[in-house]
Amino acid sequence: MKPSAPVAGLVLGIESSCDEMAAAVVRSGREVLSNVVASQNEVHAPYGGVVPELASRDHARVVSGVVEAALAEAGVAPEALDGIAVTAGPGLVGSLLVGLSFAKALAYRVGRPLVAVHHLAGHLAAAELADESLMPPYLGLVVSGGHTALYRVEAEAEPGLLGQTLDDAVGEAFDKVAKLLGLGFPGGPAVSRAAEAGDPAAVAFPRPMAKKPGLDFSYSGLKTAVALEVQRRGGADAMSAGEVADVAASFEAAAVESLLVRARRALSAEGLDRIAVVGGVAANRRLRAELATAGERDGFRPSFPPIALCTDNAVMIAAAGARLLARGVSDGLSVGAFSRVPVGEAPWRGAPA
Ligand code: KG4
Ligand code: ZN
Repeated sequence: MKPSAPVAGLVLGIESSCDEMAAAVVRSGREVLSNVVASQNEVHAPYGGVVPELASRDHARVVSGVVEAALAEAGVAPEALDGIAVTAGPGLVGSLLVGLSFAKALAYRVGRPLVAVHHLAGHLAAAELADESLMPPYLGLVVSGGHTALYRVEAEAEPGLLGQTLDDAVGEAFDKVAKLLGLGFPGGPAVSRAAEAGDPAAVAFPRPMAKKPGLDFSYSGLKTAVALEVQRRGGADAMSAGEVADVAASFEAAAVESLLVRARRALSAEGLDRIAVVGGVAANRRLRAELATAGERDGFRPSFPPIALCTDNAVMIAAAGARLLARGVSDGLSVGAFSRVPVGEAPWRGAPA
């Protein structure tokens, strides 16, 4: 067995790439001493989606309280930290800048290294943190509100992209379907809850890309099919709770099946028998259950972080940052925020992309 990568001692993580302001303290890259997340659901709920300007304003309001709470819960003084890890991209730039600026100021004050972390590398780090038996190489499936992608995760190299969505992210599709069905925001958990009472075979929605070769995903066609179905039934207001549940369950079944088809194809193409599923949609019960069943049948083992580490959090950023710091990687206080960054790239460490 390979020794696991060395990790820095006490690391504070700060994450603010979208609509969660989060801070956490992690020891030795694995031991979670605190995990504080301030969610903005009530800020964005009236709009049915994240409003970037409102997100950054709310982050600015709560950032110091969230970081203080994470340090207090961990019983760690800022001076005792070995480093500060912060998300620098991808994400909403206004949101990212709040966490980034606060992290810089704190690093400056305590004279400790700052390290910028890729948001998706953070999501992948959450899987290894939660499951000690998970070791590279393995397949990483990132499913969130902004991303749907498959990676080959290696011990010594940056994750290699195998396939990604050509249009919408799967979480975005859940959010849009929730809006169509009048289920509120955030959409994923709401659709999933409604689906529990529905029949997944009630509507035969298309299985996106199922017949196409390759490892890319597509969700805009499925989203349109759900919109047409809702329209055909006279809109969400005219639908009974049972109808809403059936459409939600049928959509969820189609979305999950398309993830499963790609995941199994990638596992066999890459000769891997482990898959880590991360990001907000990894909280989805149907996805968890179907992958577990498929794994038993086909001989692969899925790992899912606990729900609290699937959606955006700072534990994953602290864990990923601890590894970088242990390898001697840190960043200057001029680090910028980046809205789009492929996994494996770190534009904050070189010339701006
Ligand atoms: O990783 P995350 O917190 O933020 C991004 O980086 O995007 O993911 C949020 C996404 C949202 O689209 C949300 O609707 C979805 O994850 N989500 C779910 C569930 N819980 C959250 N989707 C399906 N089922 C769930 N249980
Ligand atoms: Zn995320």
